[in-house]
Amino acid sequence: MASATLSVANASLQANVKGLTDFTSLRSSSASLSFSRRAAPDDFVPIVAAPCLYSRNAPAPGKLAPVRAQVTTQAPAKVEKESKKNEEGVIVNKFKPKNPYTGRCLLNTRLTGDDAPGETWHMVFSTEGEVPYREGQSIGVIADGVDKNGKPHKLRLYSIASSALGDFGDSKTVSLCVKRLVYTNEAGEIVKGVCSNFLCDLKPGAEVKITGPVGKEMLMPADPNATIIMLGTGTGIAPFRGFLWKMFFEKHDDYKFNGLAWLFLGVPTSSSLLYKEEFEKMKETAPDNFRLDFAVSREQTNEKGEKMYIQTRMAQYAEELWELLKKDNTFVYMCGLKGMEKGIDDIMVSLAERDGINWLEYKRELKKKEQWNVEVY
Ligand SMILES: Cc1cc2nc3c(=O)[nH]c(=O)nc-3n(C[C@H](O)[C@H](O)[C@H](O)COP(=O)(O)OP(=O)(O)OC[C@H]3O[C@@H](n4cnc5c(N)ncnc54)[C@H](O)[C@@H]3O)c2cc1C
Ligand SMILES: NC(=O)c1ccc[n+]([C@@H]2O[C@H](COP(=O)([O-])OP(=O)(O)OC[C@H]3O[C@@H](n4cnc5c(N)ncnc54)[C@H](OP(=O)(O)O)[C@@H]3O)[C@@H](O)[C@H]2O)c1
Repeated sequence: MASATLSVANASLQANVKGLTDFTSLRSSSASLSFSRRAAPDDFVPIVAAPCLYSRNAPAPGKLAPVRAQVTTQAPAKVEKESKKNEEGVIVNKFKPKNPYTGRCLLNTRLTGDDAPGETWHMVFSTEGEVPYREGQSIGVIADGVDKNGKPHKLRLYSIASSALGDFGDSKTVSLCVKRLVYTNEAGEIVKGVCSNFLCDLKPGAEVKITGPVGKEMLMPADPNATIIMLGTGTGIAPFRGFLWKMFFEKHDDYKFNGLAWLFLGVPTSSSLLYKEEFEKMKETAPDNFRLDFAVSREQTNEKGEKMYIQTRMAQYAEELWELLKKDNTFVYMCGLKGMEKGIDDIMVSLAERDGINWLEYKRELKKKEQWNVEVY
């Protein structure tokens, strides 16, 4: 049972939840609020298969007629993989597409400014505690309506953007950070993505069909003293908001973060920065444990005049990052655009080379040890 005290960087979040009123913005508020709460347990008992005893008839080697032999075999004990991540009791696939959980939208607010290229929304759904998840997992959403063949829409996956306690601290909600997909096809028609538009248009009170939770790749490390390097582009910030709320806005009996969290976030314009005020609040609260670096690609450049992508920003801290990567308790998490993975590999190749290390082999080892975790799309 975790008992938690939460400091929320956004007073309007609380105010609006109570009345389910339209929620202005997570962008502009800097008011701070704290309250105490009792949280639901975030540990669940895993289902462990009971040891199985069985007997069988086996033919004796070299004999024509089978000799009745009774063999009693105990199923070998399952060798538990020692995970560095907080994996114990993690639930997956509680709700499947045929039997989804129906939650309600409690609030839906636009995060990006009017002049940002594209819209990104933050939304909170009620779960009544029925969709227990961990930081870093995803849920599926099935949009209302049918596809062009008259069949229900297929689910789309979304990274959970809240901590396990949820934005209201009662383990009864799940939040997402969703980019509205709109593009022009080859025929010059404007096409709207099915599920992202369904989600971004949801009004408080509307129902939403949820599946999952799924995913273990992005679970947080168990070690509260770890160095956690988070690399996100755009909505790829979602899992990291969950991590950071747990680390800096909540108090848990069994987890007190005392390591280093370093977030790199890449967005196109400053009006596209996501949850900026929350992160700045965390930095204020825990200056020794949290580093925050933005890469604003269409407004910033490096000293060579190159576009400031996330990997360009990281390159400015190359030595430090490389030193951190040599530590056994440094964990890197990457989430967002697929393209970022190659860009980040490219800078790591040259860093590793200086020490005579082959980056791709080194990365493979880090992955094995769960220290290099990637969920890009
Ligand atoms: C593990 C995981 C986590 C994810 N987390 C998030 C998240 O947190 N937030 C988020 O916003 N998204 C997330 N996504 C992406 C999300 O699942 C959806 O793919 C996204 O919202 C688009 O779905 P849609 O139904 O709106 O679009 P769809 O109706 O499914 O349309 C998408 C299709 O449109 C086409 N298309 C898209 N862009 C173009 C283009 N420019 N030109 C031509 N064709 C194009 C492609 O064929 C594409 O497959 C995640 C994906 C995965 C796999
Ligand atoms: N778990 C997951 O798999 C997961 C979770 C969440 C989101 N996603 C996916 O992540 C993507 C995020 O998109 P978004 O629209 O939210 O982001 P966005 O707001 O467009 O921001 C993406 C940023 O990354 C930059 N960028 C483009 N190409 C890059 C590259 N090769 N290397 C590094 N940076 C690059 C963009 O720069 P320019 O635009 O200026 O070029 C922009 O600054 C979506 O495709 C979403 O589906 C996946």
